[in-house]
Amino acid sequence: MNKSDLLFYDAYEEFYRMAAGSPAFQAFCKDAFGEDFSQDGFSDIAQINRILEYIPTGGDVHILDIGCGNGKMLGYLQQKTGACIHGFDYSGEAIKTAEVLFTDRADFREGVIGEVDYEENSFDVITSMDTMYFAKDMSAFVAQVKKWLKKEGVFFVGYQEGDVMPRTESAETTVLAQALQQNGLPYEVTDITRQTYELLQKKREAALAHEKEFLEEQQKDWFDLLLFQTDCATENYEEFAGQMARYLFMARKE
Ligand SMILES: C[S@@+](CC[C@H](N)C(=O)[O-])C[C@H]1O[C@@H](n2cnc3c(N)ncnc32)[C@H](O)[C@@H]1O
Repeated sequence: MNKSDLLFYDAYEEFYRMAAGSPAFQAFCKDAFGEDFSQDGFSDIAQINRILEYIPTGGDVHILDIGCGNGKMLGYLQQKTGACIHGFDYSGEAIKTAEVLFTDRADFREGVIGEVDYEENSFDVITSMDTMYFAKDMSAFVAQVKKWLKKEGVFFVGYQEGDVMPRTESAETTVLAQALQQNGLPYEVTDITRQTYELLQKKREAALAHEKEFLEEQQKDWFDLLLFQTDCATENYEEFAGQMARYLFMARKE
């Protein structure tokens, strides 16, 4: 397979190259999200801290992140819980950085959703923040995730509509909810659209606060992209929520 044919592949290679070498971007992430995990999504520290509730303490605990980027979020979860961390992402640039940053009880793989596989019953917690959209067959991929989870294991997903996925009526009508139902994975879901609107406003403020550093680093294109991505948060909330929605799903394998 030619990876350049996959959606956004070349853009993500460039993004993770920039993220590794740009102090302006790192400072922007810390201000916008509360921690620098090189986010290209909407995951702030409040969302990531919710994952901590589901990670068992003590024993041989394994967590997997689907679309792990450069592994910084997994590194944070390991620092807080001591768990073994596993992650995969199609970006070679991202995985190269992850392998340098995290070497203790860490396993990172360069791989594409639908092609990567793990042993069944391997993980206590599987996370995927803003990446499930890239599965060509969401139901088949959720079946694979279920296979990888241990009994009682938790699948925690940050899921946005109005971006890669079209906006549907509610959490229950999302492609992800339907895939969880089809695979017999009971879930709870929290609507965090309002918090996401506020986060996007914070992202915009943080980008503007670091404009000078972005320009000094010759990163004007990335600065412009941040403004473009957050333009929707300059509308009033009702308009925003008519076009976008964000949910946190927590599914458990029985
Ligand atoms: C929106 S970003 C989210 C990254 C990170 N989880 C976060 O919350 O900031 C999507 C991630 O999925 C990866 N990705 C996109 N399509 C993929 C695919 N088909 N297979 C594997 N990884 C993919 C990208 O390289 C990127 O790291």
